[in-house]
Amino acid sequence: MRTPNLILVLSYSILISLLVSADALQKGPKNVEKWFKKLPNTKEKVTKLHFYFHDVVSGKNPTSISVARANSTFTSPSYFGLVSIIDNPLTLGSGPKSKVVGRAQGITGSASSDELCLLMTLNFVFMDGKYNESTLSIVGYNPINYEYREMPIVGGSGVFRLARGIATANTAKFNAKTGNAVVEYNVMDKEMDKLCTILMLFSIVSVITHAKNIAQGPEAVEDWFKNLPNAKEKVTKLHFYFHDIVGGKNPSAITVAQSNSTFQSPTFFGLIRMMDNALTVGPEPDSKIVGRAQGIYGSASFEEIGLLMTLNYVFTGDKYNGSTISVLGHNPILHKYREMPIVGGSGIFRLARGIATAQTIWFNLTTQDAVVEYNVIVLHY
Ligand SMILES: *[C@@H]1O[C@H](CO)[C@@H](O)[C@H](O)[C@H]1NC(C)=O
Ligand SMILES: *[C@@H]1O[C@H](CO)[C@@H](O)[C@H](O)[C@H]1NC(C)=O
Ligand SMILES: *[C@@H]1O[C@H](CO)[C@@H](O)[C@H](O)[C@H]1NC(C)=O
Ligand SMILES: *[C@@H]1O[C@H](CO)[C@@H](O)[C@H](O)[C@H]1NC(C)=O
Ligand SMILES: *[C@@H]1O[C@H](CO)[C@@H](O)[C@H](O)[C@H]1NC(C)=O
Repeated sequence: MRTPNLILVLSYSILISLLVSADALQKGPKNVEKWFKKLPNTKEKVTKLHFYFHDVVSGKNPTSISVARANSTFTSPSYFGLVSIIDNPLTLGSGPKSKVVGRAQGITGSASSDELCLLMTLNFVFMDGKYNESTLSIVGYNPINYEYREMPIVGGSGVFRLARGIATANTAKFNAKTGNAVVEYNVMDKEMDKLCTILMLFSIVSVITHAKNIAQGPEAVEDWFKNLPNAKEKVTKLHFYFHDIVGGKNPSAITVAQSNSTFQSPTFFGLIRMMDNALTVGPEPDSKIVGRAQGIYGSASFEEIGLLMTLNYVFTGDKYNGSTISVLGHNPILHKYREMPIVGGSGIFRLARGIATAQTIWFNLTTQDAVVEYNVIVLHY
């Protein structure tokens, strides 16, 4: 099996809002409850983190290994359908021997049929200093050829309980031969900030500016967070149709994994598909495209067809071009209405929370193709 050959040094900065109180590292249900009781007296504050993420996909000791793919993955220019598990070191500096402060553990999936864009579902597991044993969770969209990629922090544990924020990734080094990556992050430390700035200057990935109405990059995100106390929360409603094309010659949702028993199961338990589904203004297949739904759905119920949905809406239309919304939810597809939580967003939708309501309007039992109407309502700033 061929593996994509890349060595990548990426720069990440993270800004998160957290509720800060002492003893957040006292674990166990009683301690968590105590922490929740103190919440009304706890102040929210913004924390910056900075570190480097090393993605090693080749050689003798890869930290990122592929675990599933579609039949068509290696004929796709973007490796559409490739699923990897990562346990990547996070370090203070960009060098391979720099001090390890944590690990990025999770799943990445190649979720675009034409560009290298990853669904990132992972935890940053910290192993050093005051963050030791605390974690941050990410569900986000990572178009790796863009200069800056914003990924929502959708939660955390330990000192990061109830955290929400943005991780900004920036490629600092790239080696097209081995497939390894290093990513940079911002911690609240002046020296490290300097390091971050220096590395960003050496970024070798071309700048692609998008979302003209919202500034990108770690400094812009920081300014945005600084303005947050003055920002008003607002409600935005979105409406589109989701085209899940499974059959035919050009499917937009492809099977990447299954268990031996999946096709004996009435609910296809264990079936995992990667999607890059068109989102359109109207229900017709040739209706104007306003974005894509990129991510994974997995059949996760024995009793009825119930999908785990982990995906990003990636908007490409005039209004929200370059912004994304992250969904993590339960989708019992035979129910009339399915509600799925919006757990975060990027660009215009930074720190978004909300609900996506799905309603199937057309389904072909033979091909399994479906058109689903979505009404999305989000709170954001
Ligand atoms: C993948 O290829 C195998 C072998 O050709 C075939 O049996 C299987 O049905 C294919 N899977 C999909 C999802 O097309
Ligand atoms: C992190 O916490 C673990 C478990 O308490 C401990 O074994 C380890 O030494 C700590 N590491 C650091 C660097 O503080
Ligand atoms: C969206 O942004 C991309 C990248 O900047 C640009 O190429 C494209 O034309 C934009 N699309 C719209 C509809 O504005
Ligand atoms: C699935 O079936 C294959 C072929 O019968 C067998 O080799 C394999 O061990 C099975 N896998 C599991 C997880 O049961
Ligand atoms: C479902 O798809 C099959 C295969 O393409 C087609 O023959 C059939 O007419 C479709 N049914 C509906 C209701 O569209």
